[in-house]
Amino acid sequence: MSTLTEPLTHPTPLPVRHEPVQVAPETWVIQATHGEGIAPIAVHMNAMVIRGAEPVVVDTGAPVNRDQYLEDLFGLVEPDDVRWVFISHDDVDHYGNLHEVMDACPNATLVASWFLCERMSVGRLDVAPTRWRWVGDGESFDAGDRTLTAIRPPLYDSPTTRGLLDHRTGVYWAADCYGAGVERGTAYASDLDPDFWAHSFETMQAWTSPWVSALDPQAHLRSCRHMEGLGITTIASAHGPTIGSASLDQAFALMRTLPAATIDPQPGQPVLDDIIASMTVQTGGAQ
Ligand SMILES: [Fe+2]
Ligand SMILES: [Fe+2]
Repeated sequence: MSTLTEPLTHPTPLPVRHEPVQVAPETWVIQATHGEGIAPIAVHMNAMVIRGAEPVVVDTGAPVNRDQYLEDLFGLVEPDDVRWVFISHDDVDHYGNLHEVMDACPNATLVASWFLCERMSVGRLDVAPTRWRWVGDGESFDAGDRTLTAIRPPLYDSPTTRGLLDHRTGVYWAADCYGAGVERGTAYASDLDPDFWAHSFETMQAWTSPWVSALDPQAHLRSCRHMEGLGITTIASAHGPTIGSASLDQAFALMRTLPAATIDPQPGQPVLDDIIASMTVQTGGAQ
């Protein structure tokens, strides 16, 4: 089994196609991966769409996957039908195709927050304020046949982060939280070896939110228990396989103990040296 710190083995990205996965009625995870085929561990760059009475685009993927993302999205929903575009936070792997979606969907409203718009307004947001709606942590909006509530996940890497809970299906979009690195694109956490998933899950949470080690364990536990009491049936993460009912209890349990978890160090200069050496060998000599 690969480790998270092995060097790259191929210098050229290989296109890897992963079809959208329907995770609940009228709800699809639009899958993409980053690093698959070139690194020992790949990271999902997923987004989601809810095709209800008023279709909701949930995050917009990364620019590097733009063509595939837009093809997948508009293969599931007509641009004119999209009513809401929810952005979880101001990281480019989540808003990376926002402007393309807003341009293609004339009837869409951007569901953001004051702080998200404030942070993005310095050159990263070109959507007219008349098309904004601010929905902060704990606030809801109505999408015709369902109510959606913005809920901050227990761990996150931006102060603007809000996940999104669909009260009709119990699907929770967790933004960066509840992800896990994978060896290849993987639809469901239950498709992975449980030990591999547990280790990868803990590593990604701690690397994305390194402050977890400084949390008061009891305060974190209260945050976890709050999430566990929301009626969530499925967790869809931007950065990991979807956590269905078969894996939900394990995900909640892993999250509870994260402040005390022992976490692998991130790759350092020796790994970069190996990567460069590998590239040099594969290109036939020093460049
Ligand atoms: Fe992020
Ligand atoms: Fe992210």
